[in-house]
Amino acid sequence: MTSRWLIVILVGMISLLLIIVKVEANLNSLRYGHGAILINKKMYIYGGRKVNSTGDPYEMVNTNLINEFIILDVSKSFKTDNPPWVVNNNNVNNPYLFNYGITSNGDDLMILFGGISSNPDSSILWYCHTNSTLELQPSTVNNEEIPSRTLFGGMTSDINNTYIIGGADPLTPSSPSQGIITIGLSSIESDIAISSFIRANVASYDHTATLLDGKVYIIGGVHNDVEYVDMSSIGVYNTKDSTWITWRANGDIPDGRRAHRAIGYDNIIIIHGGFGIEDNVNVDRNDLFKLDVSSLTWGKLDIAGQDPGARYSHTFTLVGNHIIGTYGLSTTNASLSNIFILDLNTLSWSNEYNPVSKNSSSSKLLLIVWAIIGRSRTRKIVTQE
Ligand SMILES: *[C@@H]1O[C@H](CO)[C@@H](O)[C@H](O)[C@H]1NC(C)=O
Ligand SMILES: *[C@@H]1O[C@H](CO)[C@@H](O)[C@H](O)[C@H]1NC(C)=O
Ligand SMILES: *[C@@H]1O[C@H](CO)[C@@H](O)[C@H](O)[C@H]1NC(C)=O
Ligand SMILES: *[C@@H]1O[C@H](CO)[C@@H](O)[C@H](O)[C@H]1NC(C)=O
Ligand SMILES: *[C@@H]1O[C@H](CO)[C@@H](O)[C@H](O)[C@H]1NC(C)=O
Repeated sequence: MTSRWLIVILVGMISLLLIIVKVEANLNSLRYGHGAILINKKMYIYGGRKVNSTGDPYEMVNTNLINEFIILDVSKSFKTDNPPWVVNNNNVNNPYLFNYGITSNGDDLMILFGGISSNPDSSILWYCHTNSTLELQPSTVNNEEIPSRTLFGGMTSDINNTYIIGGADPLTPSSPSQGIITIGLSSIESDIAISSFIRANVASYDHTATLLDGKVYIIGGVHNDVEYVDMSSIGVYNTKDSTWITWRANGDIPDGRRAHRAIGYDNIIIIHGGFGIEDNVNVDRNDLFKLDVSSLTWGKLDIAGQDPGARYSHTFTLVGNHIIGTYGLSTTNASLSNIFILDLNTLSWSNEYNPVSKNSSSSKLLLIVWAIIGRSRTRKIVTQE
């Protein structure tokens, strides 16, 4: 654990000194700490750090940061053995970044914040209008007290603002940032983006952040190098009144984890993967849980089919009634896939993606499935008690 953490610090420091090694585009190359976002029926996958094998992902001969832009058209069906994704590396000034945050305003704006960059002087905030260009523009935040963030794990936006909650300072990573940054999206393209910093007892990083109905739910992560956040403790930032509170969830509580990923819709958040610690040994997680935020109940999800294997620092993106995952790391599995799909209609892993509009009848069906799973879990827990 400690050594893994030290290495993350090292990555931060070494990256300040490194000369960029240009890495050839190869969609089968493993990577982690990249980001993915769905914008207008395209999934944009950006940056990260390439690794040779899962054997020693932290070797520091070179950091192999990339600025590769991968575009996946999700308006059409595809199979995972031949996804129709294309690489766009036309913009040489796009930053080499990993462990950063990615979000969108719900239209065509893609926004990146923080992370570890190969260029310490580069901006901490970037944006582009994906309808017209994939050239990222640097932006400046108004408040000098707003530091960069790494491992903050999830960044989320509504149409007006981007929210960055907790996280770690790239240079002093074991002290989590005790606060919430809000960046006004309408100002992002002006010379100075207007942002505010609210002190709050967030105290974690490498968690996930999911926005549902005006509330950002913070799940998992670590308080410091060795202390995992109790998964029954859910941090909630209410964007309407700027309050931060901690809620207590019940049900089938997942094991502590970091570098996991989350998606949310309706009243449901689904988390996947990550890694945790058991008997002082790092354990990669290969499980999924759902949190019903209306009843604050956790339930384990049993997904049929061949799973993609334990992993962390991957991406996990809700696309209609599917979740599309990409890349990531595992210390226990050398055969990680570059893309994998969870079909929410059938609750199974799938090697096929079919775009379906998430209409009311299908989402009702989905809710019934969740409700059945949720109830049987609850019953099990009740009888155990
Ligand atoms: C992978 O390993 C080979 C041989 O050790 C090395 O030449 C290459 O640069 C490495 N690539 C990455 C992405 O680390
Ligand atoms: C971007 O394109 C989508 C359609 O693909 C359109 O709905 C949207 O209004 C466009 N946004 C901007 C800012 O041009
Ligand atoms: C966005 O800002 C407008 C104007 O201030 C406000 O009416 C609207 O409720 C805001 N939307 C969200 C999601 O905060
Ligand atoms: C490794 O991942 C593959 C899928 O990529 C999976 O089939 C296999 O079960 C995993 N092995 C272990 C030991 O987790
Ligand atoms: C709505 O969803 C159902 C079930 O998934 C599907 O059969 C139907 O074709 C969908 N309707 C539309 C208009 O997309």
